[in-house]
Amino acid sequence: MTEFEKSHWSERGHGEKYLDTADLVVVERERLLWMLGSFYSHFLGRGKKNRVLDLGCGDGVLTRALVDLDGTIDATLVDGSGDMLDRARERLEGFGHARFIRATFQELIKDEVELSGFDLVVSSLAIHHLEAGDKRALFRCIYSALKERGYFVNIDMVVSPSRVMEEWHIRLWQEWMAERKAALKIDSDYNYFVERYTAKDHYEKIEPLRDQMEALRAAGFNDVECHFKYGIFAMYGGRK
Ligand SMILES: C[S@@+](CC[C@H](N)C(=O)[O-])C[C@H]1O[C@@H](n2cnc3c(N)ncnc32)[C@H](O)[C@@H]1O
Repeated sequence: MTEFEKSHWSERGHGEKYLDTADLVVVERERLLWMLGSFYSHFLGRGKKNRVLDLGCGDGVLTRALVDLDGTIDATLVDGSGDMLDRARERLEGFGHARFIRATFQELIKDEVELSGFDLVVSSLAIHHLEAGDKRALFRCIYSALKERGYFVNIDMVVSPSRVMEEWHIRLWQEWMAERKAALKIDSDYNYFVERYTAKDHYEKIEPLRDQMEALRAAGFNDVECHFKYGIFAMYGGRK
């Protein structure tokens, strides 16, 4: 069994459950998508047929947000789950410049998929599933998939090095979800996600932001920066 097959993402229904509640579960998701658009417009520029790679694309939410800004994008979406890729195909229906690759990050690390010449690599809430060594190997892989001066932006989970701060960050997350539930008048059970997040096999892989940024520097990235942080959620990245 591969690492991906062992993960929740290969479990029937887990992906659907995430997609159905993502706007409730992911803190400031709309604002993060908006920020990604701002980053894109500022650093990449619209109308230039930029080549964008979306890793762990899920239903293609990041690519969709970028394509809505710039229809000239040439997009490559990668996910280990065939079901998620089907959702991404649906979400990008009618957009002609997208290719969809079913591959795990472990396969990318082993160089089993040819990925090169990208202006921008984006990822959201996917890379934290990797063990520390694989995460670093994936960062090197992303670096080599980028063109010179290309950018990487990762929206992901981070853990606080301080236990007392971490406890509050988890609470802050729960408070966010409670607030969203009330605002959206929905009754989903968000504790499912807190339990999954803090389950030992998942939680032990989450690294502090500073370690993830340091790993980017070690992979060769410049201008490594955290653009946003709200408890356990962060947006960070660098430039080749
Ligand atoms: C939480 S979802 C995020 C989806 C999307 N990026 C978003 O922000 O809504 C995580 C995605 O990463 C994919 N994923 C998790 N581990 C992976 C791995 N090792 N290789 C490839 N894809 C993986 C899952 O199948 C899932 O689609």
